[in-house]
Amino acid sequence: MGPAILDDNHESAHLEFTPGTPGGVETVDLPILHGTMGPAVLDIRKLYTETDYFTYDPGYTATASCESKITFIDGEKGILLHRGYPIDELAEKSTFLKVAYLLMEGDLPTSEEYITFEKNITHHTMVHEQLRNFYSGFRRDAHPMAIMVGVVGALSAFYHDSLDIRDPQQRIIASHRLIAKMPTIAAMAYKYSVGQPFVYPKNELGYAENFLHMMFSTPTGSYTVNPVVAKALDKILILHADHEQNASTSTVRLVGSSGANPFACIAAGIACLWGPAHGGANEAVLNMLKEIGHKDRIPEFLEKAKNKDDPFRLMGFGHRVYKNFDPRARVLWKTSQEILDELGFDNDPLLQLAKELERIALEDPYFVERKLYPNVDFYSGFILKAIGVPTTMFTVLFAVARTVGWIAHWMEMIEDPAQKIGRPRQLYTGHTLRHYEPQTHHGI
Ligand code: SDX
Repeated sequence: MGPAILDDNHESAHLEFTPGTPGGVETVDLPILHGTMGPAVLDIRKLYTETDYFTYDPGYTATASCESKITFIDGEKGILLHRGYPIDELAEKSTFLKVAYLLMEGDLPTSEEYITFEKNITHHTMVHEQLRNFYSGFRRDAHPMAIMVGVVGALSAFYHDSLDIRDPQQRIIASHRLIAKMPTIAAMAYKYSVGQPFVYPKNELGYAENFLHMMFSTPTGSYTVNPVVAKALDKILILHADHEQNASTSTVRLVGSSGANPFACIAAGIACLWGPAHGGANEAVLNMLKEIGHKDRIPEFLEKAKNKDDPFRLMGFGHRVYKNFDPRARVLWKTSQEILDELGFDNDPLLQLAKELERIALEDPYFVERKLYPNVDFYSGFILKAIGVPTTMFTVLFAVARTVGWIAHWMEMIEDPAQKIGRPRQLYTGHTLRHYEPQTHHGI
């Protein structure tokens, strides 16, 4: 596919400054650039040089930070496409590793391409034996995300043969290493937290199966992966793989724009994802439901969520982009029913409480007027809880999945000829120039 920016129509936006506006510029024409889908953009790259003005957009609510071909989201319609494929079709018909290949390479793999890709990933699943020593430096009750940030960043100290981001071969090896080792590092964080021995990956197992094996098998007995559980986990990984220019992906792009090595970039993405407003929400949803405790207390918590003086937000609700149902939440809702029925948790009281909370919130004018719907984090925790993943590991799984999206965007950013180091400006409202005077009133 050629460049997505179609500028043969030479449309532009005519910006007129009201007379007397400082700077002496009266008008400026900004080219309008069109993609293949979604809003067109005003190209403001020459704005500052021609007008001495910046644009102002805290949180980047209306700013396209880059051109990308990887994921498309329509927030009003609740649409999510990965390289053109709808997320519900990928979740139902594909596998996580095939979606990883799609995100990175642009098309689904042929059977030969998939065999090679899966072999490359499988043969990178072990970590350097010395990496195990990092874990003993953490307290046993360290949050697993703290361990993930530290250990993934430390990979930079082990794999010196895949740090040169200018070498395409080193970029792909580092990418394979990261995709392959994230489940191993994550499972080791879990085993460390429960005081059990680390479990090595097995090459004969699939990606999700291997993760379950490393999480739940022990040297004392045989552990057989439940194929229904493995499929549900694989689906969760697909649903969390990528999501356009979200906070953690934008973090990885910004860190990568300085030329930092891929392991450092992914460690930065993990750190950003940890926040409760972002990937940390799945853990926060379960904690919130436990705090609510009973459906009779739902009105009390909805009032807290509406109170601007109260920092409490309804976890798992709302989204910067989706002003409709998050399409991933629909698939997760369906999957949570299937897996809970399969495992005999169909009357999980917390799930019943979540369903009642959703019903009441979706009828409440505050949430309806603000188009606040359940997002990807509202239901994922029920599936993870049902398969035995502790709440503190929920965001770790999100990071395992999102690593493929971060890598796809990191590769696209590096290969973009227009790429330069990210360096936003500001609206300065601090002190104007003042000179240092000895503070006589302090007697010094
Ligand atoms: C993820 O960006 C991505 O793509 C992220 C993600 C991905 O895959 O990468 O989809 C994953 O991070 C999902 C979101 C997980 N976070 C949560 O569930 C935490 C709870 N949600 C909120 O913190 C909030 O909705 C955000 C952070 C998700 C979005 O914040 P915004 O963009 O500031 O929300 P907004 O501008 O749309 O809010 C509009 C209004 C505001 O009130 P008013 O000023 O208009 O009166 O709705 C309010 C907000 O205060 N609001 C909420 C709310 N979410 C928004 N009020 C109560 N509870 C909430 N959950």
